[in-house]
Amino acid sequence: MTTTPPLLEVENLRVVFDGVLGSVTAVNDVSLSVDRGQTIAVVGESGSGKSVTARTIMGLSTPPGRIAEGSIRLAGRELVGLTDRQWRGVRGSQIAMVFQDPMRSLNPTMKVGTQIEEAIRLHTDLSKKQARARAVELLDAVRIAAPRRRVDEYPHQLSGGMRQRVMIALALSCGPELLIADEPTTALDVTTQQQILDLMGELQADMGMAVMLITHDIGIAASYTDTVFVMYAGQVVESAPTRRLFTDPRMPYTRALLDSIPSLDSPAHEPLPAIEGSPPDLAELSAGCSFSARCPRATQTCLTQRPALIEHEAGRAWACWHPVESKEAS
Ligand SMILES: Nc1ncnc2c1ncn2[C@@H]1O[C@H](COP(=O)(O)OP(=O)(O)O)[C@@H](O)[C@H]1O
Ligand code: SF4
Ligand SMILES: [Mg+2]
Repeated sequence: MTTTPPLLEVENLRVVFDGVLGSVTAVNDVSLSVDRGQTIAVVGESGSGKSVTARTIMGLSTPPGRIAEGSIRLAGRELVGLTDRQWRGVRGSQIAMVFQDPMRSLNPTMKVGTQIEEAIRLHTDLSKKQARARAVELLDAVRIAAPRRRVDEYPHQLSGGMRQRVMIALALSCGPELLIADEPTTALDVTTQQQILDLMGELQADMGMAVMLITHDIGIAASYTDTVFVMYAGQVVESAPTRRLFTDPRMPYTRALLDSIPSLDSPAHEPLPAIEGSPPDLAELSAGCSFSARCPRATQTCLTQRPALIEHEAGRAWACWHPVESKEAS
């Protein structure tokens, strides 16, 4: 039996920021993979290394950040070590990204249609007229009403939700195989959040692309993704098919995250209430488990030896010496 490689395969990725006061390991031995057409979630508290991981996969890690170790393969091709020019070929055409704040990514002085046209023309040889027609099609695809009128509007003339739709249209303009959405709805109200996530789900199904949805809100991961990767202090600490992660978490941190949401059926995705204590200082990580200071199950072993992320069951991995007992009969 031959197996196709995953679309994206990140292995043992380590990203370090060198500063005058020493180095900070923002991403620490992260491994994750995304299959074609799959939607994964990367979940974790603020500062856990989600955005640095995403930016590194996009080839956007800039000094003082550097890849200290690891591999990023897209459809089997190694991306670590590509030149800037080679990265530009990957970005936008194979991998595209949507950020939390569309106002920071959109040019305020340029009509939204023109911005989409420029992105299209950068990656294709369509004429200006063809690119404009495509821009209208894309605005229509992201369910913007009256797209022919909207192409000639400026970002400030649009609502927050519409601006995020424009960002998605921009990201889709070159038909990426992987869309990375970094907290795409965090700045939006709950109803608009829902609409944008539904839209991404529909587009994902229509276009067959894979999606990496990054969120601090584990509730969002429940409804929209196939597999969840939980990050803590720069590490992936648990990964599992979404349903199993929610019904039977094994890593104590995942358990704490799940305990902190009121109900899985809750329609309102409120920000996570804080788990007691705070994440460790990444500049002073101890040799032990990074969750040990907050973990009710911690033992002496946890304080001195870091547990590796190990696949304990098919498709399920966790990094913990004393996992929570499984609720499922084995
Ligand atoms: N430009 C930077 N310079 C130094 N350290 C950084 C920089 N960007 C990120 N970091 C470090 O990486 C950590 C993870 O950041 P980030 O990936 O943005 O977290 P998240 O997206 O999960 O909230 C931060 O807590 C910080 O310590
Ligand atoms: S390794 Fe120890 S401290 Fe870390 S999560 Fe597991 S039980 Fe808790
Ligand atoms: Mg972030």
